[in-house]
Amino acid sequence: NKRIKIKALLEDNHLGQSVTVMGWVRTKRSNKNVSFIAINDGSTIKNFQVVADPNQISEDILKKASTGACLKVQGLIVASQGSGQSSELVAQNIEVLGEADPDTYPLQPKKHSLEFLREIAHLRIRTNTFGAVFRVRHALAFAVHKYFNDKGFFYIHTPIITASDAEGAGETFKVTTLDLKNPPKTEDGKIDFKADFFERETNLTVSGQLEGELAAMGLGEIYTFGPTFRAENSNTARHLAEFWMIEPEMAFYDAEDNQNLAEEFLKYVISYALENCKDDLEFLDKRAAEEEASKPADQRNELGLLDRLKFVAENEFQRLTYTEAIDILKNSNQNKKKKFQYLVEKWGVDLQSEHERYLVEKHFKKPVILTDYPKEIKAFYMRQNEDGKTVAAMDILFPGIGEIVGGSQREERLELLVNRMKEMHIPTEEMWWYLDTRRFGATPHAGFGLGFERLVQFVTGMGNIRDVIAFPRTPGHAEF
Ligand code: 4AD
Ligand code: MG
Repeated sequence: NKRIKIKALLEDNHLGQSVTVMGWVRTKRSNKNVSFIAINDGSTIKNFQVVADPNQISEDILKKASTGACLKVQGLIVASQGSGQSSELVAQNIEVLGEADPDTYPLQPKKHSLEFLREIAHLRIRTNTFGAVFRVRHALAFAVHKYFNDKGFFYIHTPIITASDAEGAGETFKVTTLDLKNPPKTEDGKIDFKADFFERETNLTVSGQLEGELAAMGLGEIYTFGPTFRAENSNTARHLAEFWMIEPEMAFYDAEDNQNLAEEFLKYVISYALENCKDDLEFLDKRAAEEEASKPADQRNELGLLDRLKFVAENEFQRLTYTEAIDILKNSNQNKKKKFQYLVEKWGVDLQSEHERYLVEKHFKKPVILTDYPKEIKAFYMRQNEDGKTVAAMDILFPGIGEIVGGSQREERLELLVNRMKEMHIPTEEMWWYLDTRRFGATPHAGFGLGFERLVQFVTGMGNIRDVIAFPRTPGHAEF
C-alpha cells in the first residue's frame, strides 16, 4: 500500500489495488450521500477523483478537505462511472496533511487572471496553467541537454560572478562586499575596489559566451546553460533581469554551420516537447485559443498553438541578410508609418520589434534567420565581412516572440579583433585572456545564445515572459 503518483495511476491499470495517493484538493462536490474530491499531485495536469462516503470518512475530515488542502488518501481503485476517467479512488482513510482555510486561501476553483497570479507566484504553481508551463519548461531543459549530449557537445559551467561585460552594453549588476554607505576610498576619493573581495570591480554575468569560447578552443564543441543577468529596461513582456541562456560554441564552424545547428536544435527541442508533453500542450493550446478569441480579429494568430509548433518543427526557416530585410521593409505597404520610414532613410540602424514582427508574421509567415548586420549595431567579437560594413551575425526571429536567438561567427583574426575592440573602447589589456585564444592556436569558430524563457514562451503560448519562469526578476520584483 505504498504511495503512487497520479501520472502512474493513469498510465496503467490498477483496478482492484489498494493504494495511497497524496495531493492537493482542486475541487470538492458533496451531497449527503457522497463527496467527490478532485486531487492533483503535480505529476500530471490530470486530477484524480476520490470518492468519499460520509459513513466511512468523518464529517470533520471532509470539511477540512477544502480547495487547497493537502491530503493523504488511502483506498481502493475501482472502475469509474462517469467522472471522465476510467478509474477512481474509493477512500478508506483520509488524512489531512495540511489545511487551507477557505476564507483566506487565495486560489479558488475558478479562473484567476495572470496578473493576479503573478502577485502570488508562491501559490500559482498549483494551478493548471502554471503546472503545465513548468512541466513543459522542464521537458525543454531536458531536451536541450539531450540534444547536445547526443551530438557530442560538452556542458561547461561558466562563472556567474565575473569582471567582464561580454556584450559591452554596460548593463551589468554590480557585485560587491563593500559597505557602500561607508566604502574605503583611494587617495583621489574614489571607492577603493582593491579592498573588495575580488580586489577589483565585479558584476553578474550577462553571457557565458567569452568563457565558452575559451572552452571550445580545447574541447571543440561545448554549450553553457545557466542564469544570466541584465540591468536593462525589463518592463516588457519579453525581458527579464534574470534569465537563462543556452550558448553553444563550436570550433571549426563558420556562419552557415552555425545557422544550420541553430535551426536543427530549435526544431529538435520543439519536437521533443510535442512528443513528450501532449496533455500539457493540449491544455495550453485550449488556453491560448481562449486568449486569442478575446483579441481584436486583426491581431489574432492564424494558427493555434499546436499547429504553430508543428509548423515550425517541420518547415525550413527563411534566411536572408539585414540588407535584404531592409529592402523588404522599404517596399512594404507599412512604409508610410513613421517607424518604418526611419529605416528607409537610414541603412545601419537596428530593427525595432515592429519590423521584426512584420517580417516574421506578415511577410514570410515563418521563422527568419537574419544575417550580416551592420557592424555598428553588433558586439565587438563578431567576425567582420569582406565588405567592411557588416559582420557575420545572425538573429533568429520567431512569430509572436521576435528575437529568440542571437549569435555569430567570431572574429578569430587577432589584428582585426584588437582594432575593433579599440574602436569600441573595449579594454584590450584587461581581456588578455580572451585575446590569447587568437594568439595561440586560433581557428574559425562560431556560436549563439538562445534565450530559454523566450523558447518556453513560444512553446507554451504564454504572452508574458514573467509567466514562464517560476520567480521572475523584473524592476521592483525580487522579494522571493
Ligand atoms: O542577443 P544576445 O544579447 O546575445 C548574447 O548574449 C550572445 N553572447 C550570445 C552568443 O552568441 N553566445 O542574447 C541572446 C538571447 C536573445 O536572443 C534573447 O532570446 C535572450 O538571449 N535575451 C533575453 N531574454 C530575456 N530577457 C532578457 N533581458 C534578454 N536579453 C536577451
Ligand atoms: Mg541580440
